Amino acid sequence: MSTKGLFITLEGIEGAGKSTVARWVGEWLGRHQIRATLTREPGGTPLAERVRQIVLELGAEGLSPTTETLLMFAARGIHLENLIRPALERGDCVVCDRFTDATRAYQGAGRGVDAAWIESLARQVQGSLQPDCTLLLDLPVPMGLERAKSRRAAATDRFEAEAQAFFERVRAAYLELARREPQRIHVIDASAPLRRVERQVTAVLERLPGVARGTPSRDGGSAGGETA
Ligand SMILES: Nc1ncnc2c1ncn2[C@@H]1O[C@H](COP(=O)(O)OP(=O)(O)OP(=O)(O)O)[C@@H](O)[C@H]1O
Ligand SMILES: [Mg+2]
Repeated sequence: MSTKGLFITLEGIEGAGKSTVARWVGEWLGRHQIRATLTREPGGTPLAERVRQIVLELGAEGLSPTTETLLMFAARGIHLENLIRPALERGDCVVCDRFTDATRAYQGAGRGVDAAWIESLARQVQGSLQPDCTLLLDLPVPMGLERAKSRRAAATDRFEAEAQAFFERVRAAYLELARREPQRIHVIDASAPLRRVERQVTAVLERLPGVARGTPSRDGGSAGGETA
């Protein structure tokens, strides 16, 4: 497989700041004249977004952890085939809000789905494609849930309806993944003020192999949005 672009993923519990950081990463890449494709999971293409709706909707019918996992990988397959792989092959940097680490953390640790089965599905759906870099936005669960809540009126999806203990398992699983893959997964202290979070993110981006150095006129870890 010959992918040319960088594949960056963002992970963390609800309210950790993934969407905020995705915007910054997109802006940072733009300042470095790197074409970026920003996307998210589950979803990212019209068809995959339909699967997202099924998987997140708090509907009348139940969804077992096994079925939920299959739907996550079904959406991921559609996303990879129609958006992620073509973008990487064009040489774009793909910035994806959640990817397979989220399945490991939410369906694996959160719901108790067998980890080996998840890895087997990942191999079948992704082949050898892995993110080049993952930013794990880590923060205490109550803080994340508070941030997520302040943005929305009430729990609206199947994950937001979960109890704190569920998210504690998810957070612990993410940290364990980072411990096992320190080269790929960078833990960001997302409990810090936005400006400090951005500085940590920029430091990781600046060390990415294949990213042009020193091209932007003004960067140096200053908070983006100053001029916006
Ligand atoms: N470091 C921070 N300090 C203070 N507020 C923050 C910080 N990071 C994010 N926020 C705020 O918290 C809220 C949630 O952030 P954001 O939407 O980026 O999180 P998310 O991880 O994408 O959440 P979700 O999983 O629900 O999509 C937003 O209102 C955002 O402005
Ligand atoms: Mg978000």
